[in-house]
Amino acid sequence: MSDLKEKYMVTGDVRPDDMPRIETKEQAEAFIEAQVELAKKQIGDGNVLLALSGGVDSSVVAALLIKAVGSQLTCIHVNHGLMRKGESEQVIEVFREQLKANLIYVDAVDRFLDKLEGVSDPETKRKIIGAEFIEVFDEEAARLADMRFLGQGTIYPDILESKDGIKAHHNVGGLPERMNMELVEPVKLLFKDEVRVVGTALGLPDSMVNRQPFPGPGLGVRCLGAITRDRLEALRESDAILREEFEKAGLSKKVWQYFTIVPDLKVTGVKDGKRAYEWTCIIRAVNTKDAMTATIERLDWEFLERISARITKEVNGITRVLYDVTSKPMGTIEME
Ligand code: XMP
Repeated sequence: MSDLKEKYMVTGDVRPDDMPRIETKEQAEAFIEAQVELAKKQIGDGNVLLALSGGVDSSVVAALLIKAVGSQLTCIHVNHGLMRKGESEQVIEVFREQLKANLIYVDAVDRFLDKLEGVSDPETKRKIIGAEFIEVFDEEAARLADMRFLGQGTIYPDILESKDGIKAHHNVGGLPERMNMELVEPVKLLFKDEVRVVGTALGLPDSMVNRQPFPGPGLGVRCLGAITRDRLEALRESDAILREEFEKAGLSKKVWQYFTIVPDLKVTGVKDGKRAYEWTCIIRAVNTKDAMTATIERLDWEFLERISARITKEVNGITRVLYDVTSKPMGTIEME
């Protein structure tokens, strides 16, 4: 066994001092080899279940476990209707079509949106989304026989924070205890930037590996107040335009988090020569190290005007675009 691989043959919750930081392809490949071997040993001929959101951590764990145990892994992707444009499609394309994973795609859009109807309190919205997710996942898992293991995209900050008592160490709010399964957590000793290097070495697309942070409740906390389907659609479309323009301008890796928000606020505008009474869309772009404080990105005015022109022209129901210039504190990064 190579010396480098040996350094990554680590189990347990403590990162050894001599485990090299993963920065190069060679290190990532040695890590992958080590963790594939460890996962094979742990799982044997058992079956593994994984909630695959399409975020960096769960995607990297899925790709690693496909390498380790292939068809013994079953991934469940729950589309709660609050994904960004194209995200669920990308999960299907990458994991089902390219990596040939066993992927169960659950279209739970109506279930989530029906439950959220008329609910305007942000924390209640979050609770409904979290609880419904567990229910859908549980239901799907119950249909599968003999799942002894649960894959999880736990990363080292989750472990450190749970030791500090900052947050519970669960990626999927309370699933492991309830389901009585043994955890498989191949990236639990890695920091986020290392997970990205591993993801690239596993051949995952750049847009998946280097994607900006996205909250668990998804677009649900950016469609402010009680979510309606038409306003959610306007949010998804405006966000897609913003992301496309950031990519084109080479800003997507420079700015930490950028997105649109559509509050339940209608204002007067003019569309096609007629008075229009439509929604407002807010652009937010921030930089931070740890999300505890954040500063705004000073976007170029011409760039902002271009985005504003596209959103008001291309998105049904939006006639006005605003730019949020609030740092954290006093603002938070999200608006809910
Ligand atoms: P705030 O708005 O608190 O956001 O300044 C800090 C970071 O956390 C993300 N965020 C969430 N992530 N579930 C998540 O998984 C949530 O309920 C949630 N709320 C905020 C936010 O996108 C930002 O990166």
